[in-house]
Amino acid sequence: MDYQNLLADRTNLMQANAIREILKVVSNPEIISLAGGIPSPESFPMDIIQELTNNVLKKYKSTAFQYDLTEGFLPLQKQISILLEARGIKALPDAVNITSGSQGVLDAIAKLTISKGDKIALEAPTYLGALSAFNPYEPRYISMDMDDEGLIPESLELTLNAHEIKFIYLVPTFQNPTGRSLSLERRIQIADIIQKHNVLLVEDDPYSALRYKGDPLPAIQTLAPDHVIYISTLSKVFAPGLRIGFYAAPKFLREWLVLVKQGVDLHTSTFNQALAAEYLEGNYLSTHLPRIINIYRPRQKAMLDALNRLLPQGFSCAPSDGGMFLWVKGPRGFKALSLYDKAIENGVAFVPGQFFYTHPKEGLETMRLNYTMADEATIETGIEKLAAAIRTVQG
Ligand SMILES: Cc1ncc(COP(=O)(O)O)c(C=O)c1O
Repeated sequence: MDYQNLLADRTNLMQANAIREILKVVSNPEIISLAGGIPSPESFPMDIIQELTNNVLKKYKSTAFQYDLTEGFLPLQKQISILLEARGIKALPDAVNITSGSQGVLDAIAKLTISKGDKIALEAPTYLGALSAFNPYEPRYISMDMDDEGLIPESLELTLNAHEIKFIYLVPTFQNPTGRSLSLERRIQIADIIQKHNVLLVEDDPYSALRYKGDPLPAIQTLAPDHVIYISTLSKVFAPGLRIGFYAAPKFLREWLVLVKQGVDLHTSTFNQALAAEYLEGNYLSTHLPRIINIYRPRQKAMLDALNRLLPQGFSCAPSDGGMFLWVKGPRGFKALSLYDKAIENGVAFVPGQFFYTHPKEGLETMRLNYTMADEATIETGIEKLAAAIRTVQG
């Protein structure tokens, strides 16, 4: 049978995640991986899962195993509404929808809004998983400039003046891949710009709870609620395998997004939502989150200190106040991809930053480093190996 013939046109733009390919070597335990993008298993609250499960069985009985509403399991919607209120986001329980990870709503937004050729404005670099969600619907990407403080508002303004944009996609806080955060001043400017141009912003916020220093910054949603779909997740503060994401959106869009989700999975796992509801309602998150931060904060510091001490001349890494990643920039002309083999030979892996750009010639001199998966001593050794590999390739 000619299986190729079965494929729809939209598969032209679906491709294997380049990072997955490059990471295949990383399963070798001899190699220190700074290439991952996942939370540490040590951050999962394994010690309370049994208790949570018992509570769920007692409280919800068979309801936790039944089909449920597409919008979400009401006790979890209530808890997420409270969690969002603490972030300054006003959304009543029935205005909070639960999805299968934040990835689930990125896909639903794409399916709902993108017709072939529609333009989406993105930070350069951006989160690859968002591109995987958007690509099948064949959009055109307009990339906007960033600096160490995140998206440059003037670049957004220029983009909106020059193009008709379907939506803007941003990760404003501790961005994947750069770890950068938009300053308050820029958030206010961006909120003003999107309202002036009457354009939708998809604000993806999986990392803001992982703050290691400094004061919280308001979500852009709080500054322009009618123009923002705010997305977040319990993946980084509970367990990613449970696939609990959520969003707040203007009513019109929310109702459509529910229709889209109905056709995909009817609803997110009732049992997992009940477990998450119990995690929040029982105040387990508020005691567990400081433990997660206590694991990651010293790891981030160890990586930054080692980079500052060991990176050769011409290389730099801007500090970040939270999240899971640091972003290293090499001198002009440096190609991070050609460092990769030498780094693996030395026993360390990273992700060349070029994979996070939509234009093939951008970001060649950059690298994404993850610090959640290794302890401080391992991170330091990893950076020593990386610095040695850089010195070798630079001669
Ligand atoms: C920016 C960003 N958005 C969304 C996700 C997906 O998270 P979830 O597990 O909630 O689907 C990730 C995961 O790494 C991410 O970095």
